[in-house]
Amino acid sequence: MPQCAVTRRVHFNAAHRLHNPGRSDEWNQATFGLCNNPSYHGHNYELDVTVAGEIDPDSGYVMDLGRLNELVEERLLQKLDHRNLNVDVPWFRDLIPTAENIAMVCWRELAPALPPGLSLHVRLWETPRNYVDYAE
Ligand code: NI
Repeated sequence: MPQCAVTRRVHFNAAHRLHNPGRSDEWNQATFGLCNNPSYHGHNYELDVTVAGEIDPDSGYVMDLGRLNELVEERLLQKLDHRNLNVDVPWFRDLIPTAENIAMVCWRELAPALPPGLSLHVRLWETPRNYVDYAE
């Protein structure tokens, strides 16, 4: 069967602070710089959600992108959009909300909801110049 990868791009706004409470203020400042600002700061995140697998001969789809968008909305965006990631989102109670960790959490929340036989890859853009890729 022919294989194909399909991608839905979604957007969310969120605030965060990069801070490791197990390390000193000096370490945090040296490691995270402006991102350690105690008053938080925001990003306009873009998330590319890519699903890969066989093209279904009946529908011609790998996966209905409308259905994928619904899953992303329910599982990710309702919990992340317009939130303070450190304060409002339990996923980051004990996890520093770097782009790497946000991408990992998005993958782990979404992967179990996908139809069987499909692989998932996420790309999180934190700025127009910085992105991270995650897949397990
Ligand atoms: Ni930041």
